[in-house]
Amino acid sequence: MYTITPVTNVKKEIEVCPDKSISHRAVITASIATGKTLIEPFLLSDDTLTTLECIRSCGIGAVLKGKSLTIEGAGKYLPVTGELNLFAKESGTTMRILSGVLSGQEGASFKFSASPSLLKRPMGRITTPLRMMGADIEGNFLNNEEYPPLRIKPAKALKSINYKMPVASAQVKSAIIYASLYAKGVTRIIEPFVCRDHTERIVRLFGGKLQREGKTIVSRAEELCSPGKLFIPADFSSAAFFVVLGLILKRSRMLVKNVNINPTRCGLLAVLKRMGAQVKIVNKKNYYEPYADILVKSSQLKATQVKETEVPLMIDEIPLLAVAASFAKGKTRIWAVGELKVKETNRIDSMVYNLKRGGVKIEAKEYTKNKKKNWMVEIEGRDKLKPADFKSFSDHRTAMSMVVLGKALDNSSTVDDIKCINKSFPEFISLIDAL
Ligand code: S3P
Repeated sequence: MYTITPVTNVKKEIEVCPDKSISHRAVITASIATGKTLIEPFLLSDDTLTTLECIRSCGIGAVLKGKSLTIEGAGKYLPVTGELNLFAKESGTTMRILSGVLSGQEGASFKFSASPSLLKRPMGRITTPLRMMGADIEGNFLNNEEYPPLRIKPAKALKSINYKMPVASAQVKSAIIYASLYAKGVTRIIEPFVCRDHTERIVRLFGGKLQREGKTIVSRAEELCSPGKLFIPADFSSAAFFVVLGLILKRSRMLVKNVNINPTRCGLLAVLKRMGAQVKIVNKKNYYEPYADILVKSSQLKATQVKETEVPLMIDEIPLLAVAASFAKGKTRIWAVGELKVKETNRIDSMVYNLKRGGVKIEAKEYTKNKKKNWMVEIEGRDKLKPADFKSFSDHRTAMSMVVLGKALDNSSTVDDIKCINKSFPEFISLIDAL
C-alpha cells in the first residue's frame, strides 16, 4: 500500500522518462534495418524491456548500458530458424506490433505467450488483417474473440491489403505497417480517426517511403537502413501526470522538459486549454518527433465536452482527464471511451470506482451512434474532494491518476498496489514524492 501525502506551492522543473511507444518501435525498427543504431535514452520499464528481450530471443544483438541501447540491425529477416518461444508478459504493445514483423518471417515459427492479464486482452484486431495479408497466425478463439497465446508460422508470401480499421488503434495500424514491409504490392490502411503516428515517423526516419493520403496510410515493401543515432523525447503520457498536477495544485508552477508534443499524442493539452488551463509550450524543437518544454500554472478549470475524434489523440490520458474534470466547475462529458474497457483493466470501471470514493459524481453510460454501441462518462466537478483508499486494479495509469488526485487533497489518501507503475514509468513515485 502506498500513502499519498498532499502538497501545495510546488515550483519545479521536471524531467520524465523517455517515450514508451517510441521505445518499443525504436527497438523493433532498428532490429529489422541494416546497420547499427544507438538509441538514447531508451525507456527502462517492464513493457519496453519485454520488447527488448523478445528481440534478443530472435537473435538480434543488443547492448544496454544505462539508458543507452545499441541494436545490431539484421535487415528484414531476423536471424532465427526453427521454433521459438516468445513471452510478451503483460505488454500488449509488444505482442501486437511485433506480430506484424513475425508474420513476415520466412524461416521460423513463433509461439507468443503472455502473462494472465494479457491473456484476457483481444488479439482478433491484429490477427484478422494479418491473416488477410496471408500470414499464418492464430490465437485462442473464445466467444467470437481471439486471445493470446499466438502461434505464427512462416507465411509463403505476404500480400498487400486495403484495410479499413474498425477501431482507431495505433497498435493495429503498426502491426499492418510492419507486415506491409514484407508484402507484395501497396498496402492501404484507412483510419476511422487519426491515432498516434509514431510507426509512420520512425519508418520514415529509417528511410521508408510510407505516406499519408488523408485518412489513409500507404505503405509497401522496403529495406530500412539505420540513421545511426536516435534520441527519444520524454513521454507525453508520463509528463501529463505532472501537467495536470501543476494545474490542480494550489499556488504551483511546473515546467516539464523535452516532452514529445506530436499532435497525435497530446490531444489532452487542447482539451485542458478549453477547460481554462494555463499551459504554454516553450522551447520547441523539430526532429522526427517534435518536442518541447511544457509550462503549467495552477488554474481554475471548467467543464468541457470531449468528442469522439479527440479520444484517440489522448487515449491513455482519459483516466487523468477524469481527475482534472473532478476539480472543474460543471459537468464534463467524455464521449466514445469504449476502448478503455480493453486496456490493462477496464478503465471506465476503475475510474468510476475511485472517483466515487473521492466524493465525485461520475456516471458511465452506454449509447448507440450510427448503429454502433459505445460508452460515455459524465463527471461533475467539486470544490472539495474526499481523501480515500483508492485501488489501482493493477493498472499503471489508474494508479498514477489516483496519486495525482491524492496529492491535491487536504489530507492523506492511499492506493492499494502501485507495482504496476513499473509498466511505463518506474521513476514516477520518486519524482512525485520529491515535489
Ligand atoms: C499504443 C497504442 C494505444 C495505447 C497504448 C500504446 C502504442 O493502444 O493505449 O498504451 O504504442 O501503439 P491502442 O492501439 O489499442 O489504442
